[in-house]
Amino acid sequence: MAYRKMLANFPCWCGSGKKYKKCHEAFDERIIAAEKAGHIVPERKLFKTAADVQAIKEAAVINRACLDAVGEQIHAGMSTLEIDDIVSSLTKKMGGIPATLGYEGFPKSCCTSVNDQVCHGIPSAEDILQDGDIINVDCTTILNGHYADSSRMFLIGDVDPAWKKLVDVTKECVEIGVREAKPWRYLGDMADEINKHARANGFEIVEEIGGHGCGNDFHEDPFVSYVTTPGTEMLMVPGMVFTIEPMINMGAHHVFVDEENDWTVYTEDGSPSAQWEVEVLITEDGNEVLCW
Ligand code: MF3
Ligand code: CO
Ligand code: CO
Repeated sequence: MAYRKMLANFPCWCGSGKKYKKCHEAFDERIIAAEKAGHIVPERKLFKTAADVQAIKEAAVINRACLDAVGEQIHAGMSTLEIDDIVSSLTKKMGGIPATLGYEGFPKSCCTSVNDQVCHGIPSAEDILQDGDIINVDCTTILNGHYADSSRMFLIGDVDPAWKKLVDVTKECVEIGVREAKPWRYLGDMADEINKHARANGFEIVEEIGGHGCGNDFHEDPFVSYVTTPGTEMLMVPGMVFTIEPMINMGAHHVFVDEENDWTVYTEDGSPSAQWEVEVLITEDGNEVLCW
């Protein structure tokens, strides 16, 4: 459906109480111009209010505390289920709900993805961290109906320098994404900068899975790809909240899903994969990282 204006003297849709023409009319005209030029534009429901943003930030306090606690306690010899216990108990202690628990049938309170596991690794007492492993821990917290979603990589003991480089370059890719997430530009502009950095280092970005709008629900529009080209994909507009979370493989980008649990994604060639995730708010002059 086309993005539409409202009557000039009506109270603005944003809830400011001001007349539309003195509030978001010019903003809406900018979106309509992009849509007329053939671009994908957000629906109004994707724009977070100040109260939404405040609630996401409060959920993010818990999410960050969980990842900080995991970082302090993670070590070789520990099972990934113990990581889940840390996240589950701290989230509950701080008054939040782990969003992944029961989400579409996912059985645990976070995702733990080791080495060639790309994402959606399921914490298990049988999976013991070994010296030299790299692991992504991905947490999502619900607090007062709002969602904070972020993930970090952890190095276990003595990691191969080439694997460490994969982890570092992936973090740099997220930092580039944060630099390029700007209002009135396109998600494809950001994606292309991320992709160029990954490729310059000999790595490939997973195509089928990516970031997403987030905040008032776990997964909202848009899908955020990191392999698209400048000027394509959705227009970034102030008020949008989405994640930047490229999955980057040392080898080819191809992946497959575990047939037994129907969740865990692996690299097809067995090469290691890394991912970091942040949640950002597009602002009038750039962005604000809400959760990391
Ligand atoms: N936290 C993941 C993300 O960044 C989603 C995990 S869904 C689960 O989007 F069901 F696998 F937990
Ligand atoms: Co996410
Ligand atoms: Co996540």
